[in-house]
Order: sequence, then structure tokens, then C-alpha cells
Amino acid sequence: MAQLRQGILIAIEGIDGSGKSTLARGLSEQLAQLNISTVLTREPGGSPLGKHLRTLLQHPEININPTAEFLLFAADRAQHFTQIIIPALNNKQLVISDRLSDSSLVYQGFGKGVDQQMIRSVNQWAMQGIKPDLTIYLHIDAQTAMERIHARGKALTAFEKEPIEFTQKLIDGFSSLYSPSPKRQAAYPVNMRQENHADPAVVAEKSTMAESSALSEGRAQAMEELRRKEESLLHKNRKDVMMIDGAQSQDKILADVSHKVHAWIKENHYL
Ligand SMILES: Nc1ncnc2c1ncn2[C@@H]1O[C@H](COP(=O)(O)OP(=O)(O)OP(=O)(O)O)[C@@H](O)[C@H]1O
Ligand SMILES: [Mg+2]
Repeated sequence: MAQLRQGILIAIEGIDGSGKSTLARGLSEQLAQLNISTVLTREPGGSPLGKHLRTLLQHPEININPTAEFLLFAADRAQHFTQIIIPALNNKQLVISDRLSDSSLVYQGFGKGVDQQMIRSVNQWAMQGIKPDLTIYLHIDAQTAMERIHARGKALTAFEKEPIEFTQKLIDGFSSLYSPSPKRQAAYPVNMRQENHADPAVVAEKSTMAESSALSEGRAQAMEELRRKEESLLHKNRKDVMMIDGAQSQDKILADVSHKVHAWIKENHYL
């Protein structure tokens, strides 16, 4: 398997039945064919603690207040990042997560009215400031998704039992997060890509160092430390989005996404 230059975090987002789990598995297999190994995980439920929380959260008979619900997702997330995601990123692996933080923003925020600024802050805290490098959003209409969930033939979770109006709210929430609005267009000039912004403090510190004369050993070490600090900041600030039409056939989605993700990995010099 090829060795990546740094860890990569990819999130797959979308409403229930949009095809996230199917795509996550397929993408992992396709990347393995291209010699890139992946760590496949999910929220909720990526860690041993998370498996218990997932059962609680999806239980159709337990009435959970929206804030409590978000905090349970956040607890799952904190454990998931500490135990699974961060160690894998430190190990230069490619992590694919079936749902991540934006699902909370959309389900508990847009869907159930929990304060969105609070969700963003707690998410950031639980994720130790790390953001996904790439988010793949499967966009699909409520009716098609619901038909798929029913055809799947499994018992419905609490979220899958919500009325279609709730699902429509979620679709609107995801769209407002990922659609290139005029304001966002400026931030995502090419292919919805937000360029990395170097932290001004790091830039200032670096230029002061570059100006000073001979590069003593101590200084070289400090430069190396700054380079690493800058690299980790790049990781934290980066956010690319791929919007995919989830109503297409499974094969078409998989071929399209695999091709795009492979190109994105190469374009960002991760290989
Ligand atoms: N592109 C597709 N076309 C038709 N059916 C699909 C497609 N992708 C997935 N399915 C089927 O639709 C159902 C839902 O897919 P999947 O479980 O991957 O969705 P999900 O987004 O993970 O849903 P959930 O959020 O409920 O876990 C499954 O039975 C799956 O086999
Ligand atoms: Mg799923």
C-alpha cells in the first residue's frame, strides 16, 4: 500500500437513506484497488463507547430532549476523535467517516432548533479543532430516500420515523451548509474549494526568523517546529466539499466519487 504524506479525514454526509454507508464501503474498496488503504468508521458508533451511544440514540421508544441528544452525539464524537480518528491521522492514514460533525449541525441544529453556534463550539471542542479535509455530500430528495429505507427492510430508527417535513428541513439545512451562495462563491472560487489560509501569527513569526542572519542549530529547530505548526494549522483550516447527486445509480456514484477523490488526493499532494 502507498504511504500518504499526512493523514486525511473524509466525511460522508447526507440524510437517512441517501446511500452514505453504501458509498463509504465502496469507496474504501475502490481506494484499496488503487493501493490506498483506509480506516472506515462512523458517527455515532465508531468507538466501543459509541456503539452503546448509537443504540441509545437510535432507540425509537426513548424520548430524548434535542439538547441532550446533541450532547450524546458530542460525547460519541469526543471519544471517536480521541480513540480512533486522531491516532489514525497521526499514523498518516486516510479516514472515511460515515457522518461527522455537520450531521449534528443539520439534525439537532436546523432540524430540532438547538443553538447552532453552541453546536459548532462544542463540535470543535470534541474534535480538538480538527475539521474534515473533504466532505462528500450525497444530495437526494426525501421521497427517494424514504423509499430506499423502506426497501432496505430493517427496523426503522428514531430518525427514520420522523415525518417527511423533518427530512425536508434536513435537506434544506445541508443545502445551506454546502451550496455555493454568492458569499460562499467568493470563498470557494474553484470547484467549491476553500484555499488554505496561513495563520497570520505563523507567517509573521516566520518572516522575522527569515530576516535574522545565520541559521543556528536552535533556529533551524525552531523553523522546523514552525513548519510543523503550520502544517497542522493547514490541516485544521482546510475544508473542501464535493456535492454528489445521490439519486443516481450506485455504480455511477461510486465510479464518479472514486475518480474525484483519487484526483483530489493527488491534487493536494497527499501521495
Ligand atoms: N445509489 C443507490 N441507488 C439505489 N439504492 C441505493 C443506492 N445507494 C444505496 N442504496 C440502497 O438504499 C438503502 C440505503 O442506503 P444506505 O444504507 O447506504 O444509506 P445511508 O445513507 O447509510 O442511510 P442511514 O443514514 O439510514 O444509515 C440500502 O438498502 C442501499 O442498498
Ligand atoms: Mg448508513
